[in-house]
Amino acid sequence: MSTTVRQPSRKHSVPLSEVEQTAFCRSEDDLRPQPLLDELKVNVRWQQIPPEYQALDPETLDRRITDVKRELGQKVTILGHHYQREEIIKHVDFRGDSFKLSQNAASRPEADFIVFCGVHFMAETAALLCAPHQQVVLPNMAAGCSMSDMAPMDDVLDAWDDLAEVLDGYGTILPVAYMNTAAGLKGLCGRQGGIVCTSSNAQAALQWSYDRADRVFFLPDQHLGRNTALTLGVDRQDMVVWDPFKPLGGHTAEALRRAKLVLWQGHCSVHTRFTTRQIEAARSRFPNINILVHPECTSEVVQTADLNGSTELICKVINEAPAGSIWGVGTEINLVNRLAQANPDKTIFCLDPVVCPCSTMYRIHPAYLLWVLEELLEGRVANRITVDEDTRHHSRIALENMLRLPSP
Ligand code: 13P
Ligand code: SF4
Repeated sequence: MSTTVRQPSRKHSVPLSEVEQTAFCRSEDDLRPQPLLDELKVNVRWQQIPPEYQALDPETLDRRITDVKRELGQKVTILGHHYQREEIIKHVDFRGDSFKLSQNAASRPEADFIVFCGVHFMAETAALLCAPHQQVVLPNMAAGCSMSDMAPMDDVLDAWDDLAEVLDGYGTILPVAYMNTAAGLKGLCGRQGGIVCTSSNAQAALQWSYDRADRVFFLPDQHLGRNTALTLGVDRQDMVVWDPFKPLGGHTAEALRRAKLVLWQGHCSVHTRFTTRQIEAARSRFPNINILVHPECTSEVVQTADLNGSTELICKVINEAPAGSIWGVGTEINLVNRLAQANPDKTIFCLDPVVCPCSTMYRIHPAYLLWVLEELLEGRVANRITVDEDTRHHSRIALENMLRLPSP
């Protein structure tokens, strides 16, 4: 059988959001609130908003957000992911991991507007799941996700066509899209009978797929896909990583036919910072420490840790842990700092000694939240997130397959 050799469609090898990821990293912990004007000095893409918002000090921003939120009342619901900064989290109505927030988005039909303090794919998912009369707003349009950007639609479609061609007559394959993807990709999953998953239900989603097909194409996070498949007993030798810059992802047709799991070559730059050395260092400092990491970490880190799970699970485990317990955590710094603040009777610290927030989550500065809320009060919807009807239809199929899985 002959296969078509295509050139990768991407012009850049690394998405800009990935290049910008380290812009906010610092060695000393000084994530203190400051006016947007000062934060704009960090040389990354920011959405421009009116200058009067940029100069506002943290106290004024806080007071005005409280006031405008009160005036808007039930018309607006504010959702916040666990990685948001404290100055944002204090104003949200619901906070959670990607799964819980997607449920929250569908559970408040009385609110005309959902202001999503998180990253683009999360707001887009809310727009897919909310009622038709509701509108979703993302305060800063530059808040994307570098992992999601690693799977551009054209490259994925090329890979899917190649796989279909190579596997023709050799068994079936289903796509599984991590929530951290654009709606178009979720739509591809829906069209092909696949499913969406989050870090809290990846195991159930992968099992669901293997119950229906011989192989899975998991994207975009190779680490979550690998970690989950290892838990289900899939052998490493049956996994291949699809490199979008190489013909057939860098494999022979025969190797692809043998594989049970094709992993897209994507990763999270925040979670791949964690290493087994950091875990060893923490264990030699505190022999009875518990190591808890997010499953976007590498498989070496996940297997060296004591526990792994979604941000919601990380919160639950630490909040319910006995006083005096010690926790080395492998996830984003804003969440780790918040858990440490909320649990002063426990020792909680981030395994990474460098303070490195998720640079796109961090771009939801309170000035943006205030701006979109005050726009709503004036009857204007700034930064509305929309999805075309065809994509909405198909991506909802894959999302609904996920929502029918047993609750995590
Ligand atoms: P959770 O679903 O666990 O919150 O993860 C989302 C995410 O983007 C982690 O990097
Ligand atoms: Fe994306 Fe990683 Fe940030 Fe999560 S932490 S939003 S996966 S870049």
